[in-house]
Amino acid sequence: MIEVKNIHKSFGDAHILKGISTTFEKGKTSLVIGQSGSGKTVFLKCLLGLFEPEEGTISYDGKIYSELGSNEKRDLRSEMGMVFQGSALFDSMTILENVMFPLRMFTKQSKSEMQDRADFVLKRVNLEDAHNKMPSEASGGMQKRVAIARAIVNKPKYLFCDEPNSGLDPKTAIVIDNLIHEITEEYNMTTIINTHDMNSVMQIGEKIVFLKDGLKAWEGTKETIFKTDNEVVTDFVYSSELFKKVRQMYIEERN
Ligand SMILES: Nc1ncnc2c1ncn2[C@@H]1O[C@H](COP(=O)(O)OP(=O)(O)O)[C@@H](O)[C@H]1O
Ligand SMILES: [Mg+2]
Repeated sequence: MIEVKNIHKSFGDAHILKGISTTFEKGKTSLVIGQSGSGKTVFLKCLLGLFEPEEGTISYDGKIYSELGSNEKRDLRSEMGMVFQGSALFDSMTILENVMFPLRMFTKQSKSEMQDRADFVLKRVNLEDAHNKMPSEASGGMQKRVAIARAIVNKPKYLFCDEPNSGLDPKTAIVIDNLIHEITEEYNMTTIINTHDMNSVMQIGEKIVFLKDGLKAWEGTKETIFKTDNEVVTDFVYSSELFKKVRQMYIEERN
């Protein structure tokens, strides 16, 4: 479980996160949603320990990050997996080498142990025959699978994904969402996904934190997000014409 208490993050005069508190549970897929520029990536980078908030605390299963020594911070970071926006694979490495990379960084496993583990996670994301391909030879959806395999190869307790389905067609995006959701339950990880995709919200939003202008404007679930009258949320959710129509039909049916 990750507990966030009143975190603030500024860059110079720009106050980006203005006191956010929430919790993310183990075995659940939590989504952080909001418009571009609302602070999702900055928030995720705070959770990853890449930015240290000026105020507030983040604790990971009871360990408060800012109170840890540098070795403990490193250990904690080795328990985090990350899927970056756009996959961020190493172009000059094969898919297998990409997936083995975190094991090289963080473990002292033998080459064959690393290969076995990489094989296992590549199978788990349904990539059986791609080991020796270069990332440039893989489709966008395949690259995301590789990025997910790499993120989970070192058995992380915490998985962070920044807009994992940006640039994918809607069908592939759902496959990727479902894959993240499944492995979160399977490995009992605490998973947090940044997204602005309403499809993801409807599909896998077990917990949703809505950010606006650096504040938590609302939180709930995929079941409650369509029922709230909070205007900030409805503005976002029904910004698409399709959703507006669906909502109107729902209201007419109710009356
Ligand atoms: N390293 C940085 N230095 C200064 N400003 C930043 C930095 N990173 C993000 N910001 C600013 O923080 C705000 C929130 O950005 P971001 O978290 O990337 O939004 P989102 O991911 O929701 O689109 C933006 O106004 C952005 O310009
Ligand atoms: Mg972002």
